[in-house]
Amino acid sequence: MISGVLPGALVFAAFATDTSTDTCADNDCVATASHYDSAIHYDVLWGQDNIHLGFYPHFIDRKAIPLNMSQAGMALTQRMISLGDISFKSNVLDLGCGKGAACVLIAESTGANCTGIDVSSGNIARALNVARERPDLQLDFRVGSFTDLPSVLHGRFTHVIAQQSFVHVHDQLPTIMQQVKLAMAPTGIAVLNDLLGSDRQISIDTRQAVHDRLGSRMLLGHKAWRLTAEDAELDLQHYENLDKHMALAYAQLAAAAQAWGFRAADGTLFADIYAASSEAAKRHDIGMNLAVYSV
Ligand SMILES: *[C@@H]1O[C@H](CO)[C@@H](O)[C@H](O)[C@H]1NC(C)=O
Ligand SMILES: *[C@@H]1O[C@H](CO)[C@@H](O)[C@H](O)[C@H]1NC(C)=O
Repeated sequence: MISGVLPGALVFAAFATDTSTDTCADNDCVATASHYDSAIHYDVLWGQDNIHLGFYPHFIDRKAIPLNMSQAGMALTQRMISLGDISFKSNVLDLGCGKGAACVLIAESTGANCTGIDVSSGNIARALNVARERPDLQLDFRVGSFTDLPSVLHGRFTHVIAQQSFVHVHDQLPTIMQQVKLAMAPTGIAVLNDLLGSDRQISIDTRQAVHDRLGSRMLLGHKAWRLTAEDAELDLQHYENLDKHMALAYAQLAAAAQAWGFRAADGTLFADIYAASSEAAKRHDIGMNLAVYSV
């Protein structure tokens, strides 16, 4: 019923009851869109409008303070701003922008223009509300799919970013990488963050806890993911393996879910599901990356 085997989707599949969607061309898109439209508890566990796992600076900077879930979500965006050199001169496109939190933070902290697209009309409605409250920022949000970008968005952006959105459709990653290139201006930079599977055969535990729950779909590991970008003739500038960050994020979610006692539709405690995801990330059966590409 859900498109990705990603650790987030596995948790939120239980909430995917609303199949109404106006812009989806295929079932993957419908599943992804409805899954986010109905996943309201994201705000409680993940922090307001945050729908991704974060970056924890204390792993690379011993003087940095350990962050919580929503702070780490913002720190990931800040890391992407800094790696991509995003400034007031930048015109940024966020592929799978969710409720627009990354675009808002980018526009706020750099003065850049930021356009976000997302397949979920619920997410875009929320993002447009935020944009209306912030007329001081150059924000633009629209419903759309990054597997088939509207031609008005082609060739316009100094920066293309994505945060854990490609994972829903890894079987279409070659197409997505071509769309990334299409959106970029001639000297454009792509700063891409994604959730991953493993390049190895995954363990029985992960298959049971993560994959079997939903019906297995393709999830690329670090190597296969990078090869796909390389095949699209994107030029790798920088690559980070964030598996450790993913494991910590899931451990934090497990603790919060435990405190709230949230359960999935089948009665399973979300705390247990998140804890299993954290263990899977520690074993590198699932992972997370951050990559910078030029054309
Ligand atoms: C994270 O910490 C900040 C600052 O102390 C706090 O405002 C916020 O509610 C916390 N968020 C979560 C998800 O724990
Ligand atoms: C940002 O958008 C404004 C208004 O559309 C435009 O005038 C400006 O040139 C844009 N800046 C960049 C860096 O694209």
